[in-house]
Amino acid sequence: MPANQHRLLRFTSDGPWRWWRQLSQRELTMATATAAIVFFLLVLSPFPKTSRTFGGTNVITSEADSEWVPFTPLSKAQQNSAFCLDGSLPGYHLKRGFGSGSDSWLIHVEGGGWCSNITSCSDRKKTKLGSSTYMDKQDQFLGILSHHPVQNPDFFNWNKVKVRYCDGSSFSSRPRPDTEFQNGTELFFRGQLIWDTLMDELLTIGMSKARQAILTGCSAGGLAILIHCDDFRDLLPKDTDVKCLADAGFFPNESLRVFKYGNIGIGNSLFYIDGKNKVSFYSIASFAPSIRKDIVGNHGIESFYHDVVHLQGIAKSLNHDCVARSGEPSKCFFPQEFIGNIRTPVFLVQPAYDFWQIENIYVPKLSDPQGSWRKCRLNIFNCNSNQLEVLHVFMYAGYRNSLLRTLDGFQNKPKWGMFINSCFIHCQTWAAGTWHSPTSPRINSKTVAETVGDWYFERESAIRVDCPFPCNPTCYNKDLSAG
Ligand SMILES: *[C@@H]1O[C@H](CO)[C@@H](O)[C@H](O)[C@H]1NC(C)=O
Ligand SMILES: *[C@@H]1O[C@H](CO)[C@@H](O)[C@H](O)[C@H]1NC(C)=O
Ligand SMILES: *[C@@H]1O[C@H](CO)[C@@H](O)[C@H](O)[C@H]1NC(C)=O
Repeated sequence: MPANQHRLLRFTSDGPWRWWRQLSQRELTMATATAAIVFFLLVLSPFPKTSRTFGGTNVITSEADSEWVPFTPLSKAQQNSAFCLDGSLPGYHLKRGFGSGSDSWLIHVEGGGWCSNITSCSDRKKTKLGSSTYMDKQDQFLGILSHHPVQNPDFFNWNKVKVRYCDGSSFSSRPRPDTEFQNGTELFFRGQLIWDTLMDELLTIGMSKARQAILTGCSAGGLAILIHCDDFRDLLPKDTDVKCLADAGFFPNESLRVFKYGNIGIGNSLFYIDGKNKVSFYSIASFAPSIRKDIVGNHGIESFYHDVVHLQGIAKSLNHDCVARSGEPSKCFFPQEFIGNIRTPVFLVQPAYDFWQIENIYVPKLSDPQGSWRKCRLNIFNCNSNQLEVLHVFMYAGYRNSLLRTLDGFQNKPKWGMFINSCFIHCQTWAAGTWHSPTSPRINSKTVAETVGDWYFERESAIRVDCPFPCNPTCYNKDLSAG
């Protein structure tokens, strides 16, 4: 590739990783001391021991701390035709609040991706993400859902609802006769109806008297709560303190493409790693049109969202200002496009090295035919320094810039907050080990739970952004290669 001729050098970098390789003796001593403290906390802490099953679903403390909560089908689902993809009845798990938390409500929306075509939606019908038939009839409430003050200091006694996800659209699909029953396949696109029916039911059973409320969710559930945040706010009394917390729900419009000769393109830039590990950045505008097309044409997540939004009739559920502005509704499935329009205070919990995003958005298998990212996608410690640099530039720095820019440096959003930690993980609020435990990830010594508490109760500024990987020894980093 005649890269040099087209060079429009943004910056050349010796790598933000260089510092890591050049750690001084003093810094190494400090890192060792930190490790010793972590070890001390792990082994000698007065807190219940955690047994970690990571990335997975549960981080279980002792049996006595765990609480199994039964599934409740939505009572008006049948009447309102608010069905899961397969026609079964959606529902939720409710644990009543107590004491001073009796008038406070925390709604947590489950995640689980989206489906974009008849085949993938039909496949989903045969799983708990498309049918309540396959859902566990009890769910364990941990982390932000825990009723235990040690595990959940600020919200333990609130009313808590875990909403099950079975529509494939982040609760925003609408009935479409032209796709719902196409080609002999019975599929119900009722996400918005499920949402409306659920809200009615929660208001009826006590939420209409809430004095405090948090709408939260993880992954596709995090996107759902961003989509529905202001509507949720408007359902509650004016003097209710309502806020929204999205966990790993900020999905960017980016994807990497690994070309031969080690070139990698993303968004509007392409960068080149030469044999000497130098990374150079170019604007794609400086490339020949044929090359440009190849780069721009590979927006995996963008075309995926386009298909999800159009198949499932989602347009009307999206932010109206955004849709009017952008013209193409599916653009408004990207939080970066509408988050600035949200009026209600929002908090983002987002790992800067979100493994789900690396796997599915930044470096999807298709964009890496040679498999040079295979090991790195499974475990961040397998990434070489070039790959870490790519992740650093596009994820760590990308988030920082994109979030801060989107939120206008928080100038106009004083009640907003964020916890962006440099860990290889996905959701962090609903597992005890990542939410609040002696071994939880921290930024400036605060856990996710403490930061969210600081934000919700306005105790102090809650914008916590980590240093780049691998600087934070408190991280949980998932190992996907472990199976
Ligand atoms: C349907 O979507 C799945 C998942 O995104 C994809 O792998 C598959 O190729 C799609 N099928 C068709 C027919 O488009
Ligand atoms: C139904 O099948 C026809 C013919 O195979 C195809 O053109 C059409 O796109 C399908 N409809 C949907 C919604 O997949
Ligand atoms: C996504 O990125 C591409 C390339 O930068 C751009 O053409 C497209 O408009 C973007 N889409 C959205 C929704 O921002």
